[in-house]
Amino acid sequence: MSDTSNLVLVIGGTGAQGVPVVKALASGSTYSVRVLTRNASSKEATELAAIPRVTVVEGETYHEPTLREALKGVSYVFANTNGFALGEKGEIYWGIRLYELACEARVKHFLYAGLEYASKLGNFDPKYRTGHLDGKGKVVDYISHQPTSRMAWSILTSCMYMEGLSETLRPFPDPDDPDTMVFPAPLGDAKLPLIYLEDYGAYARWMLDNPARSNGLELHVGTEDIAWKDLAAVFTAVTGIKAVYKDVSLDEYFQLGLWPDPDAKLGHSTSRDDPTLFTVRENFSGFWNTWKDSLTKRDYQLLDDILPTRVKSVREWMEKTGYKGQRASVLKDRRDATGKK
Ligand SMILES: NC(=O)c1ccc[n+]([C@@H]2O[C@H](COP(=O)([O-])OP(=O)(O)OC[C@H]3O[C@@H](n4cnc5c(N)ncnc54)[C@H](OP(=O)(O)O)[C@@H]3O)[C@@H](O)[C@H]2O)c1
Repeated sequence: MSDTSNLVLVIGGTGAQGVPVVKALASGSTYSVRVLTRNASSKEATELAAIPRVTVVEGETYHEPTLREALKGVSYVFANTNGFALGEKGEIYWGIRLYELACEARVKHFLYAGLEYASKLGNFDPKYRTGHLDGKGKVVDYISHQPTSRMAWSILTSCMYMEGLSETLRPFPDPDDPDTMVFPAPLGDAKLPLIYLEDYGAYARWMLDNPARSNGLELHVGTEDIAWKDLAAVFTAVTGIKAVYKDVSLDEYFQLGLWPDPDAKLGHSTSRDDPTLFTVRENFSGFWNTWKDSLTKRDYQLLDDILPTRVKSVREWMEKTGYKGQRASVLKDRRDATGKK
């Protein structure tokens, strides 16, 4: 039995984003962590359960009686809902409902894994409409309007994972010159922020350790905002492998084969008949337009102050991790989908 005096319930703890949060919270002896998963026997859940001070409980995340049970004895919550499973509508509902259930359970501090509210940042121009950003963004708006006295809250607003450079952001060999790697993106000259996930976990830990500063704070995290031509140059400098950036149109982007069917609807755990669901093409067109038009901003001085040891550049990350453009699995959802085929 884990000690429940400083117990953190982590929602989405088996995912790419949740695993480093669980590890950061379980390190040392301040907190113990409860991870809710649909399958306690999965590789991810089994690995987490082997960490001291981590307990895995099985049940559906998006199910009120399960959540009430999981919240028993909990002092803190970290919640990363899965927008790609739920769709925008479900993500708004469950984000707000999780906040409410945490209040009901007398949780001390609620951490919400936010994303940028793209539509609002773009004055509701439909070209920025992105289901998985707008869904979390609306929940961020809701939480930001809650008092900090009833239950402390903090929001950790992130961006694309640096680790995605091995998955959906990975480079491809140039068919005409296989010694050159091509980083394609529909980004123009804009800079894209990327976040190193181990540091993401450390920011979550900082939030629980420092409520005097983090209560009522929305922290926009990133490692570096980088232009894709600079990404290719850094890659060459670190690995010695020739690389170029290819600025592609959205149509070209969806032909890269990153998604089996760009016109399939996103929201794999909900009814595909829901007319509010986005197709991959609709969703990620808004997504890339948001970054291409530089609608978001991070305060790197503040991030240096909060986490002086943070990885500060893509270059540092490549050197630290030995990145060479190799393909690697990042998202659990993708692994699960491949396993089902
Ligand atoms: N990809 C990125 O660069 C990025 C960046 C920032 C934010 N995000 C956001 O992060 C969220 C996804 O989390 P992730 O990146 O950690 O993804 P992931 O690696 O694919 O993990 C998915 C997580 O969702 C949980 N989950 C609970 N109920 C689920 C259901 N019915 N169907 C599918 N999964 C369910 C899974 O838990 P079990 O399988 O153990 O139940 C697992 O912990 C999305 O909302 C996405 O917008 C992604």
